[in-house]
Amino acid sequence: MSEEQTVTAPEPKAPDQPNIVRTRGVKKIYRMGTFDLEALKGVDMEIKRGEYISIMGPSGSGKSTLFNMIGALDKPSEGKVYIDEVDVAQLDAYELAWLRCRKIGYIFQTFNLIPVMTALENVTLPMIFAGIPTDESIDKGVGLLERVGLGGRVQHKPLELSGGQQQRVAVARALANDPAIVLADEPTGNLDRKTGREIIELLRELNEENEVTIISATHDLKMLDVSDRILWVQDGKIERDQKREELDLDVGQLEHDEENTIE
Ligand SMILES: Nc1ncnc2c1ncn2[C@@H]1O[C@H](COP(=O)(O)OP(=O)(O)OP(=O)(O)O)[C@@H](O)[C@H]1O
Ligand SMILES: [Mg+2]
Repeated sequence: MSEEQTVTAPEPKAPDQPNIVRTRGVKKIYRMGTFDLEALKGVDMEIKRGEYISIMGPSGSGKSTLFNMIGALDKPSEGKVYIDEVDVAQLDAYELAWLRCRKIGYIFQTFNLIPVMTALENVTLPMIFAGIPTDESIDKGVGLLERVGLGGRVQHKPLELSGGQQQRVAVARALANDPAIVLADEPTGNLDRKTGREIIELLRELNEENEVTIISATHDLKMLDVSDRILWVQDGKIERDQKREELDLDVGQLEHDEENTIE
């Protein structure tokens, strides 16, 4: 069996879990001088604790904008975002900082590591912000880097690591404070196929073993066969909400597709 084919479909998750993310009527309007650009046009969705969700959609459809709303990095122009059924708009500055630091881990397409810091320092930084003692954060940071297969690279700076290794550091950093949710915005967008698949596998392991809710925006069709559900975004709206078992795409066939992406 080739390496590409070793990913097996996960068991469907229990449907009776509570919502960890819920949005109602979320709109985002960017004011661009004299005209308004409606990037989100009323998004309603629910994500259960422990789900692995892929958000698929063409470039410019609003995926990153939606991530910024779910991740409490930006505010909707209209509508509500609830995390664990708490309205994010009701949180004060301290509570928002806690949510961003403790509850949510972020992974970006371009890794966003701090170049002058070692892999270990990048991973321990969120723990320092969270007030965890240095010794404890170093032990935990080393453990996380071992977990992502980088036990031998803790003192390397980002530029001394390959793209896939940098993204592994970013995954470890996202897990630093044991988040309930990991938001990954095109985590494989800058990686080759094999390395991309390794990151996808890693996210899936975290989802299954640590029950972390994974929400991943992607163009990458390889993501589909590990997801519990796919939300298809088109022109600022959710066009389709599809369970993995409802997929009519032949994912095995996609493995042989050179492009493996949608535009
Ligand atoms: N800060 C901003 N100011 C103005 N317009 C924006 C801003 N951010 C995004 N947009 C616009 O909103 C729309 C949605 O952008 P968004 O980045 O959410 O798309 P996306 O689905 O993430 O695309 P991609 O797959 O290319 O990352 C686009 O038309 C974009 O030009
Ligand atoms: Mg984007």
